[in-house]
Amino acid sequence: MTAPVLSVRNLHAQYGPTKVLHGISFDVQQGGITTILGANGAGKTTTLRAVCGMVKTQGEVSFAGERIDGKPTEDIVRRGVAHVPDGRGTFLNLSTEENLRMGAYTRKDKAQVEADYERMYGYFPRLKERRKQQAGTLSGGEQQMLAVSRALMLRPKLLLLDEPSFGLAPLIVRELFDILGEINKAEGTSVLLVEQNASLALRLADHAYLLETGNVVISGTAESIRNDESVRRSYLGY
Ligand SMILES: Nc1ncnc2c1ncn2[C@@H]1O[C@H](COP(=O)(O)OP(=O)(O)OP(=O)(O)O)[C@@H](O)[C@H]1O
Ligand SMILES: [Mg+2]
Repeated sequence: MTAPVLSVRNLHAQYGPTKVLHGISFDVQQGGITTILGANGAGKTTTLRAVCGMVKTQGEVSFAGERIDGKPTEDIVRRGVAHVPDGRGTFLNLSTEENLRMGAYTRKDKAQVEADYERMYGYFPRLKERRKQQAGTLSGGEQQMLAVSRALMLRPKLLLLDEPSFGLAPLIVRELFDILGEINKAEGTSVLLVEQNASLALRLADHAYLLETGNVVISGTAESIRNDESVRRSYLGY
């Protein structure tokens, strides 16, 4: 057993006086995929924001063996944590390729960065055809692919994904999830995936946590969660 790449213990988070996370704990294994499931308002987005230092927290967040809680977001990004926020967060006025360049802004190995454009176009060929196109004119699915590619341009150790399936047609979602699985295998990038689409997320992930109003109520291997009666009834609809 190797140590987890991300280890979160007793994490609290709040916006002003409003407490949103009430002491949650979870891990992402080295090279693994963990998913956090939950209904609207459960605290999924806040959990990702807490990991990358974008909201006030208490508790422990350890990344690659070092505490990162309380550190500035910039520092956390430099350590190798890339965040694909909900709503995608692409620069709508910039082209596909300019967005990819923005993703690599912390990197010094400029020659490698050039090669990485091609690596991304290898995963997402439709982005290559649209390399000069303004991001704001890409389809929803293409923008999500661009957002993921932009995050990968950082060559992160850990990728945080906030509902990548949101608003996309089922076929596009499946394509995107297949590629995420491929990237995880090929590059060893660990993933923390927040999703409402429980059945797809549980197929991709190795571990899962179910969040309800800021508390973890069920956790385990993705397989055990998939077979959990109450999860099936509430989230999987069969
Ligand atoms: N900036 C903010 N200020 C105050 N409250 C906030 C803020 N952002 C989120 N909240 C509250 O925190 C709670 C959790 O929100 P969060 O966005 O983490 O939920 P979520 O699980 O991601 O939901 P969704 O599935 O709708 O994206 C909600 O009750 C929300 O209203
Ligand atoms: Mg959210």
